[in-house]
Amino acid sequence: MSTTAPQTAATARRTCPCGDIRPGHVGTNVVLKGWVHRRRDLGGILFVDLRDRAGIVQLRFDPARFDAATAEAAHGLRNEYCIAVRGAVAQRPEGTENANLASGTVEVVVDELVVLSRSKPLPFQVDEYDNTGEDIRLRHRFLDLRREEMQRNMRIRHLATQATRRFLVDEGFWEFETPILTKATPEGARDFLVPSRLEPGNFYALPQSPQLFKQLLMMSGYDRYFQIARCFRDEDLRANRQPEFTQIDLEMSFVDVDDVIDVCERLVARIWKECIGVDVPTPMPRMTYHEAMLRYGSDKPDLRFGMEIIDLTDSLRTGCNFQVFNTIVKQKGVVRALRFENGSTHLSNTDLRPESKFSKQVNRDTGIRAYAWFKVDDDGKLSSNISKFFEDEALARIASATGAKPGDVIFMVAGTDAKVVAEQTGRLRLLLGHEFGLIDKALWKFVWVIDFPGFEWNADEKRWDPLHHPFTSFLDEDLEKLGTEHQGRIRSKAYDLAVSGEELGGGSIRIHRSDVQERVFTAIGITPEEATEKFGFLLEALQYGCPPHGGLAFGLDRIVMLLTGEDSIRAVIPFPKTQTGSCPLTNAPGPVSEAQLRELAIRTVAKKEKEEGPET
Ligand code: AMO
Repeated sequence: MSTTAPQTAATARRTCPCGDIRPGHVGTNVVLKGWVHRRRDLGGILFVDLRDRAGIVQLRFDPARFDAATAEAAHGLRNEYCIAVRGAVAQRPEGTENANLASGTVEVVVDELVVLSRSKPLPFQVDEYDNTGEDIRLRHRFLDLRREEMQRNMRIRHLATQATRRFLVDEGFWEFETPILTKATPEGARDFLVPSRLEPGNFYALPQSPQLFKQLLMMSGYDRYFQIARCFRDEDLRANRQPEFTQIDLEMSFVDVDDVIDVCERLVARIWKECIGVDVPTPMPRMTYHEAMLRYGSDKPDLRFGMEIIDLTDSLRTGCNFQVFNTIVKQKGVVRALRFENGSTHLSNTDLRPESKFSKQVNRDTGIRAYAWFKVDDDGKLSSNISKFFEDEALARIASATGAKPGDVIFMVAGTDAKVVAEQTGRLRLLLGHEFGLIDKALWKFVWVIDFPGFEWNADEKRWDPLHHPFTSFLDEDLEKLGTEHQGRIRSKAYDLAVSGEELGGGSIRIHRSDVQERVFTAIGITPEEATEKFGFLLEALQYGCPPHGGLAFGLDRIVMLLTGEDSIRAVIPFPKTQTGSCPLTNAPGPVSEAQLRELAIRTVAKKEKEEGPET
């Protein structure tokens, strides 16, 4: 014989999430479950803010309504207790509404309370903004994730992922999963390795991206692929870099640059619209890599403010007796400048000294040979500690080339390597922009950077390295330069999308002919044996009717960081690693037992030995 026990608030099904209670519920009885967010004991009556993922609703515990035991339980409530209640939704008395809450005009008058589980005293408060250190928050991430900001971040992350899936499926993409235990992939960072037990001494590498597999899927005829893909890179960490991160990865067949850019920018526009309601105009502007470096000193230019870089090399060919500049100009180096409009009102004399942070922002270790400044006086003349080395006509040319106006400050950076000078001037531009509030943070300035150089000279190794990966194809008209002395001038069909000075994603059209691929390997000094050893499976597949294809990967974490206005991707990853790659919650990475190591045929060297080398 079965008996049905009467339902308590604990066993009854929830009427709806707490945060969904609205004026329409007034007069109805509800069962709610959630966490005690905050409590206010007004002597007789107790108010509790009950919270769940949907939001907050106020509970009113009126001692006139229930027995002594329940009253005692109610007074025993503490923050973060998990409880169930039954009660009636009522209009709040006039003057007690809370305009900051979606449920702020109503409250639930409680008849029954059940404590589902208690909480220990909290290591930090969940209910209000609090300056708890990140380490403590990460150690108790399960509590940190209850905070309103974190719930908002996770919600936006969820929306971004879902918007991506819906958009790409509608565009004919199929979702795939590719292996996590795999071979090294060609993104150029250090691999994370996983030892094989079944093949002692052999290792899997965790994928730095699904690059090779997505290309194989194109070769297998799947036409349009996407994956919300976990990637692993053992590299130095920064605010926008994690060892384990997520890409929105996609690949398409029978396409060229414009087709990939078109899909990707519409995807980004959809994400921005669905997550934060912002209309991003498409098509987005494009800029060649060459132009981006020349004007902004960066391949991810921040277009939210002007202060473009100006080339002064030609203006200094005559009339300049400042020896360093002269030598640089003679050695085919470059002199670049920034005009800080009204800079005199912002910068003190100390800011112009060599030891100031502005001067130090130009990193001399990179090969920068000179850094100088000029103030523009009221009469329009340039003055500085080095102006005596410049003839009037040279000063006039600098003033005219920079468009100098009284009150401006001109900075000059010079060196023999044009790329280094561009980058260092770009760094100074960004610092000035951030320091002096020149950047309108409300602006979204997307820009595609296209036509990246195919190769970069690696002076240490004395060889050409591919700037992206070795499967990137080139502008058709540049292909003839492959293997010649002009190889450095080859432009690739690679593109990056940048916004707010942040690289959101990058990709390329791939090489689909094995003869071209072989020529590239030769050009970058990879022997056929090495190529087979590293990417043999891809090269073989290339020989069986490979379609022209290309794609791109966005950093999902970076997208969500920007959408939420956070400064670090750690704030938008549920369980991130610290700057040193560790996890304070799980204590990973940690030691393993001798038995596990034996099974894997691995012996570890002591830390000292690792640092100093084995004793001889
Ligand atoms: P790439 O290496 O440029 O391209 O990576 C694509 C995007 O991934 C993000 N990203 C990262 N995000 C967080 N932490 C990291 N350590 C990290 N590294 C990269 C960036 C970057 O723009 N397979 C190619 C794509 C392709 O060619 O299709 C690739 O991985 O937002």
